[in-house]
Amino acid sequence: MTDLERPRGGVPAPKDWTYAPAPEARDVVTLADRYGHFVGGEWIEAEETYTTISPATEEPLAEIGQATPAEVERAVAAARDAYDDGWSTISPSERAKYLFRIARILQERSREFAVLESLNGGKPIKESRDVDLPLAAAHFFYYAGWADKLEYAFPNQRPRPIGVAGQIIPWNFPLLMLAWKIAPALAAGNTVVLKPAETTPLTALLFCDVLRQAELPAGVVNIVTGDGATGAAIVKAEGVDKVAFTGSTEVGKAIQRELAGTGKKLTLELGGKAANIIFDDAALDQAVEGIVNGIYFNQGHVCCAGSRLLVQESIYEPVVDKLKRRLATLRVGDPLDKNTDVGAINSKQQLEKIQELVAVGEEEGAEIYQPPCRVPEKGYWFVPTVFTNVAQSYRIAQEEIFGPVLSILTFRTPDEAVEKANNTPYGLSAGVWTEKGSRILWMAERLRAGVVWANTYNRFDPSSPFGGYKESGFGREGGRHGLEPYLQLDDSEAFGG
Ligand code: NAI
Ligand code: MG
Repeated sequence: MTDLERPRGGVPAPKDWTYAPAPEARDVVTLADRYGHFVGGEWIEAEETYTTISPATEEPLAEIGQATPAEVERAVAAARDAYDDGWSTISPSERAKYLFRIARILQERSREFAVLESLNGGKPIKESRDVDLPLAAAHFFYYAGWADKLEYAFPNQRPRPIGVAGQIIPWNFPLLMLAWKIAPALAAGNTVVLKPAETTPLTALLFCDVLRQAELPAGVVNIVTGDGATGAAIVKAEGVDKVAFTGSTEVGKAIQRELAGTGKKLTLELGGKAANIIFDDAALDQAVEGIVNGIYFNQGHVCCAGSRLLVQESIYEPVVDKLKRRLATLRVGDPLDKNTDVGAINSKQQLEKIQELVAVGEEEGAEIYQPPCRVPEKGYWFVPTVFTNVAQSYRIAQEEIFGPVLSILTFRTPDEAVEKANNTPYGLSAGVWTEKGSRILWMAERLRAGVVWANTYNRFDPSSPFGGYKESGFGREGGRHGLEPYLQLDDSEAFGG
């Protein structure tokens, strides 16, 4: 018994401990009223604008540019000039210097970025501070290290940059996805036009200030903001040589159709419906933490979220019991509170999608559990949810919900687990929990997923490639593999290698 639990003076200890609010200071962030586009190292006034808000309070934060095709063309032209003017030919170790600088500045300014990320996107400050920011900086450090070693990464293949990369990113990890896209592109000698998602433009706009601080040559990175129409204009722009997209499978397919036959290179990182598989010999308390991290991390707005829990039948009851008890301790609320575990849903549109699929799950006959939980009145919120009694054919077991909603299914044998796990049009990630090393290897060989985590979940490292199979997309980000989409390589045979 600790001192805190010991009853004092005959007064029983309170049943549940609540935390006093611990809000992170907002004043580390200075916002402009209105932002333009960052083109050729300068801010250009936006012709059209919209308002970006905080999803936790619906408070307007700033006016943001909605880039027109003409503005996109301007950004692409600036990227082309920067490419021809030297970025593609300066010594690779010079390129590395800029990337190292960017990484260090991100570390120095990480508090400011973390607060802004949580303010604009709704994710808990604990996550933006401890996950998004350190990983974004690590990505720049990692690819800075490759910039002058491309010849070693791809021996006998004469690695050369491609040209201008058009990059379109989603709203679930705004700064981190920017880092995943920009760091390898620059290390390989390309220049960039990047568009953040319409609901979360602010950290990408603050990043322009980092570029200036790092004295990156003008036009090497250009940031334009706007919705899908702006994204489509980037895909179509003549001067773009390579498109990198992370987002919905639907838009990914449309982009693939658009680019067919154009010769532009493409990588797609799309959705997922990952299986998190718990065997009866797993350390259960640890597995329950992994389940929670797998689906409630970032409100479940995670392409590789462990949204389908497969539990071996013999341990079904204790796992579900423990999970429900754990769920009741998750703190849902103010993203800027340091104690918050689950923040706000990113947008009204996403909240409606979650609500719709959850209603369908109930209609189809699944049993819903939500812990008692009070959420703020304003803003977009969804209580952490578990579905039991789920059949494989239910939409909640098939479709990406992209919210804090878990569907639980069972299996008896390892073969059945593999079959159920692979029974999805997606193939991005999977988790396996077991004491047996041989079973981990056996499973990893059979799971059609780009990443298989063993006795952990949602763990990322810049040196580890990430990407999907099937409708989860193609191409890899991270690691040496992540350089490849940004390089032209001679076929080693053709080169006599
Ligand atoms: P989305 O695919 O529409 O948006 C992602 C990015 O693509 C944004 O920057 C958006 O402006 C841009 N975009 C939209 N339409 C475009 C087009 N026609 N051409 C070029 N760019 C375009 O995703 P949305 O609507 O925000 O979310 C819908 C669902 O997609 C989510 O509920 C989730 O299931 C999935 N999704 C998956 C993500 C992942 O990490 N794989 C990220 C975001 C969403
Ligand atoms: Mg969309």
